[in-house]
Amino acid sequence: MRMRLLFWRPLAIPTALALLWLFVSGCSSDDQLEKDNPVKPIPVPPVGIDTDLSGPLSLNYPTKADKLDPRRIRLGRWLFHDQRVSVAGDVACSDCHMPQFGYSNRSSTAVGSRQTKTLRKVPSLVNIAWRIYPHYAWDGKSESLEQQVVAAILNPLEMGNAMSHLVENLSRYESYLKYFEETYGSPKITGPRITGALAAYQRTFMSGNSAWDLDRWEAKKNDRTRKRSKGEALFFGKAGCDRCHKGSNLTDHRFHNSGVGWNPDTHEFDDEGRYNVTRATDHKGHFKTPTLRDVAKHPPYMHDGSMPSLFSVLEHYNAGGSANPGLSPEIQPLALSMQEMEAVVLFLESLNGPGPGDQGPAYFPQ
Ligand code: HEC
Ligand code: HEC
Repeated sequence: MRMRLLFWRPLAIPTALALLWLFVSGCSSDDQLEKDNPVKPIPVPPVGIDTDLSGPLSLNYPTKADKLDPRRIRLGRWLFHDQRVSVAGDVACSDCHMPQFGYSNRSSTAVGSRQTKTLRKVPSLVNIAWRIYPHYAWDGKSESLEQQVVAAILNPLEMGNAMSHLVENLSRYESYLKYFEETYGSPKITGPRITGALAAYQRTFMSGNSAWDLDRWEAKKNDRTRKRSKGEALFFGKAGCDRCHKGSNLTDHRFHNSGVGWNPDTHEFDDEGRYNVTRATDHKGHFKTPTLRDVAKHPPYMHDGSMPSLFSVLEHYNAGGSANPGLSPEIQPLALSMQEMEAVVLFLESLNGPGPGDQGPAYFPQ
């Protein structure tokens, strides 16, 4: 092993220089771009996800007959990681939705184009192809993935761009024109084409193959009865977490008031959540239940990133949430012991998947 490393060392510097040249000159041939970013078959879902992506996706898809297209996914991958999608060319979707952290990240708020700051925690995007209800963002302000992609591009706190400006900007790059032609049949860049490609790529973000999934799968395969861990039994039993964190994605995709962000001094929510969308008074402080897959990868937690660890989330639920006039009746004091809370944290950690193993392209169409 050591010998091989020594042997390769003299090549490391020229290789790095060559890569740097490719990157700086930006005129790598399209052949190289093709070679480094081949069209890949639609990924097979990992253990833990029961449906696949190969047929027409019936849920929350713009047209029910639409199928995922591998070329569209490749184009979306470039766009998702390309900072030129933002108004000042300084932020990519993946700078906030980071692949290694379940497509979320590890800060309570994030920095958008021109150093703006988001008001909410960046949510994870794993298993986004499967939504029980078409609600996107913490307050469900978008009703389709495509609509949420447009919102991200236009939001002054995220990409801060105008669609016309983005279309004009991307149209300056011949190689992008070529890939839009390959994907859509004509070399025309439009808003819906950009968002369609970005949405297709995001529908391939999957999380499964976790310790929890593999254990259940093994048991099923060997036809043996499986013993739940202590934390899992509490999650689905005494602690009642599955009243909201249901099914294989551990979410109902609905809105609840658990008191996060309630300000006892002003008697208001710092962020009114679902109320901003519906204007129904009893929706104040309601936020969408997030998936718990990959959750241990992206502290701090909640829409405002106010809880530093999974243990602090457990303390919040154990106390019966934060008292406020609209608190969900499903949130009650739990009387869990310290050890029981720790066991639930261990269960949440067992939901981590191995991650996508793709940090995005090294360079982009020019
Ligand atoms: C500056 C950080 C930032 C950037 C850049 C960013 N996002 Fe987001 N994204 C967020 C935040 C914060 C939210 C939550 C918004 C809310 O609830 O109001 C969000 C929400 C989303 C959601 C909804 C997820 C859910 O669970 O419903 C999707 C999808 C999404 N972003 C996709 C994108 C795409 C695609 C891009 C690039 C075009 C992008 N984002 C760029 C911060 C960012
Ligand atoms: C009444 C529905 C409900 C119940 C019951 C519930 N949750 Fe939640 N959970 C939510 C909602 C809604 C949020 C988002 C709240 C917010 O950000 O304001 C959330 C957020 C979380 C988060 C943060 C995830 C992230 O990405 O930031 C974790 C972890 C979590 N819940 C775990 C649990 C556990 C463990 C239990 C059981 C002890 C539980 N939940 C019970 C609805 C519920």
